[in-house]
Amino acid sequence: MTDLLTPADIPRAADLLRAGKLVAFGTETVYGLGADATNAQAVAGIFEAKGRPHFNPLICHYANPEHVFAHVLAPGIAMTLAARFWPGPLTLVLPRRPGCPVAQLAGAGLETLAVRIPAHPTALGLIEALGRPIAAPSANRSGRISPTTAAHVLSQLSGRIAAIIDSGPCTVGVESTVLDLSGTRPVLLRPGGVSLEALESAIGPIGRQLPPAAAEASRSLRSPGLLLSHYAPNLPVRLNATSIAPQEALLAFGPAFDAALTYQLSETRNLTEAAARLFEALHWLDANAASQGLNEIAVMPIPSTGLGLAINDRLTRAAAAKDSH
Ligand code: TXA
Ligand code: MG
Repeated sequence: MTDLLTPADIPRAADLLRAGKLVAFGTETVYGLGADATNAQAVAGIFEAKGRPHFNPLICHYANPEHVFAHVLAPGIAMTLAARFWPGPLTLVLPRRPGCPVAQLAGAGLETLAVRIPAHPTALGLIEALGRPIAAPSANRSGRISPTTAAHVLSQLSGRIAAIIDSGPCTVGVESTVLDLSGTRPVLLRPGGVSLEALESAIGPIGRQLPPAAAEASRSLRSPGLLLSHYAPNLPVRLNATSIAPQEALLAFGPAFDAALTYQLSETRNLTEAAARLFEALHWLDANAASQGLNEIAVMPIPSTGLGLAINDRLTRAAAAKDSH
């Protein structure tokens, strides 16, 4: 069941994270549901515990800027913002460095990663004790509001996570501001604990994401698989394949057909393992199919139970992206 810990138990909580378990912890903004960001299987467990029907990219939490900038590329303005607002409720979206050890699933397969240094001794202590970044969305079930006390977390996730560190109520109470610095100009993706005015006073004008109605219109012109925050493979995707064509690479789930190129998501048809490997699989098939003369990805049927719903959501978007061309 879920252990109720105090900040004095940080070493024990870090051991749980090291073992691939989930630990909820307080930050200055809201409680986070943490996993070792470098352990794909543990990250898959986050989506399972939250009951998320799709894979949103998660924020990676670090304890110091050197570790952040070893994993992502930072333009000068990122350095300026880091110096001014970290630790604090500001998340920066930056390009991953080659060899960045954070699991692909944590970033939903994207080339960018959302990173922040929380201003909270428990969160910082836990990250330092683990010695690796912690991937953590807000510690609520999907579709519910973000928790600002341990009791909120337990009411939604008790029994679904290994432990929670109760560090009292969160002081900021709203999530971090998310700022995308990966493009040609800074764009505010989510307002939050650091005001837009404070950010603009540090780095000048910041673009806004399209208002929801405009975003919806532009979205319908494009295909769902091409949405900003989702990775889709370059190759066309064919779902529910019960046989394989000569020009196809295979994304297998369970005992595989004989194909020229196969990526096995889970030999034993384990959905958590499959979720953990999904984005690695799509990147790998994209990178390796062409040299074998293959031009399509056939996907074996995957049940839509548990994490299968999120897996099929991603794959359906990937398939739809190419249908509309
Ligand atoms: O205050 C917070 O930010 C809390 C605490 C726990 O740190 N965390 C939090 O995480 O609110 P979450 O997963 O609920 O929200 C993360 C937000 C989402 O809106 C997500 O789409 C965005 O950050 N995000 C993450 N990675 C991204 C990326 N690579 N590109 C664009 N947006 C990203
Ligand atoms: Mg959230």
